[in-house]
Amino acid sequence: MNLKSQLLLFILASAALFSCKEKEPQIATINKSNYYTEPYRPQFHFTPEEKWMNDPNGMVYHKGVYHLFYQYYPEDIVWGPMHWGHATSKDLVTWKHKPIALFPDEHGLIFSGSAVVDFENTSGFGSKENPPLVAIFTYHLMAGEKAGRKDFQTQGIAYSLDNGDTWVKYEGNPVIGNDGIKDFRDPKVMWYEPTKKWVMSIVAGDHLQLWNSPDLKSWAKLSEFGKDKGAHGGVWECPDLFQLKVEGSDEEKWVLLISMNPGAPNGGSGTQYFVGEFDGEKFTTDQTDIKWLDYGTDNYAGVTYSNAPNDELIFIGWMSNWTYARDTPTEKWRSAMTVPRNLSLKKIGNDYSLFNYPIENLESIIENKNTKDITVVSESNELISFEELNQSEVKFQTSAKNFQLKLSNSSKDELVLTMFGEEQQFVLDRTNSGKVDFQEDFASVQMMPVNKLPEGKYEVRLLIDHSSVEVFINKGQYVMTAQLFPNEAFSDLTIENMGESVIELKDFEISAVKRIW
Ligand code: FRU
Repeated sequence: MNLKSQLLLFILASAALFSCKEKEPQIATINKSNYYTEPYRPQFHFTPEEKWMNDPNGMVYHKGVYHLFYQYYPEDIVWGPMHWGHATSKDLVTWKHKPIALFPDEHGLIFSGSAVVDFENTSGFGSKENPPLVAIFTYHLMAGEKAGRKDFQTQGIAYSLDNGDTWVKYEGNPVIGNDGIKDFRDPKVMWYEPTKKWVMSIVAGDHLQLWNSPDLKSWAKLSEFGKDKGAHGGVWECPDLFQLKVEGSDEEKWVLLISMNPGAPNGGSGTQYFVGEFDGEKFTTDQTDIKWLDYGTDNYAGVTYSNAPNDELIFIGWMSNWTYARDTPTEKWRSAMTVPRNLSLKKIGNDYSLFNYPIENLESIIENKNTKDITVVSESNELISFEELNQSEVKFQTSAKNFQLKLSNSSKDELVLTMFGEEQQFVLDRTNSGKVDFQEDFASVQMMPVNKLPEGKYEVRLLIDHSSVEVFINKGQYVMTAQLFPNEAFSDLTIENMGESVIELKDFEISAVKRIW
């Protein structure tokens, strides 16, 4: 390289450095070498830099940016007066932290809700050229609750004209009042083209209510659903209603997600779903069984992105459970989100199943895949030592129905995952997985019925990230998400044959996952 081009390179490099510094002055104050390295800090899942987080909120895509707002208490690592924290992403893999978007006000704390792009400027907050982002959320008035009233949850809206950077609350708030429903919250809004109206799903204790509006400001109640349907072991929360094509056909169905706490199959918080029809006014279903999106204990309050490209349905859940969310052994921050997952609907026999499976983009941080075939003969096992197991992906294809995967370390902590073919159950046992005694119900054996697994080969995929495991069986047909707090990093994976003459794991991959922070 000649002197002139060297000089040019130098100038370009300094300019890049300078402009970088200019854009992100806060980076200078953060010691990057310690950033996101605390014990149990997830490396490829979203967590706030510090303090308490629960539900994902306001998930909306606009102008190349995925927004993730979240229930946030900036003063402590336990739940407190709720704000909407904010982060953005261009790829749903790496995230940029943004200032808090919504603060409590005279109407109350800012509970969960959604956000939409008001393309037609129905609200009048922006213009057609610069459509506003509108957030629709629940106000929770503490004083009302403390006084023993029942009408302390109302619905409010706020808008942003700069793609989420700053927010203005509507002066006419609340836009929906409360005539005495104790748990009336978590509005999820969508545009319904046939009637050219906004439709809100909102829960009212033990049922869903649907409302509509021409402008996001004035709302009318349409219908109710669910008092006599589905699971009712606890309060219904965080609804989401969306349309999906049944894979491999032209059939369209509507799916309703309902989070519920307590009463999930393995205790505490969980998300059930209903597959049915929506006619613009009513949601109906002939489903008689109870369907769960995730059988693990740690996937709650999840909903989907509004306005995602290519009509994709991208789901993110809060990776915790109200049973012990406040007690988990982290110090600087508390709780993570699941990886973003694609939702898809499949018809198996006469039954519809909602699959949830990591978005494809996640592949971009999964490193050096070495593929091999593993054979485990009867009464034996295969031990694989892998230094990065604690931040990894494990994946294989098998038709075996009787095997066990054990993650362990030299402190003798174990996470045990077992496929019991005869019982048609998959079991996640974290009773001996490390720190478990911070709360009496944490050390659980979690069961998942797997009675519709395909006969032949299917995929088993694990994502392990320091304090969590996500298990995807048959590309998201059966899913378990669970938190874990091992005393030291897991480094050994044992695959055990549980009584078949021979077990074959095809295309077995164990890969380190890059950190995103
Ligand atoms: C669900 C939930 C919501 C509520 C929010 C409060 O986890 O209870 O129903 O809006 O959390 O933080």
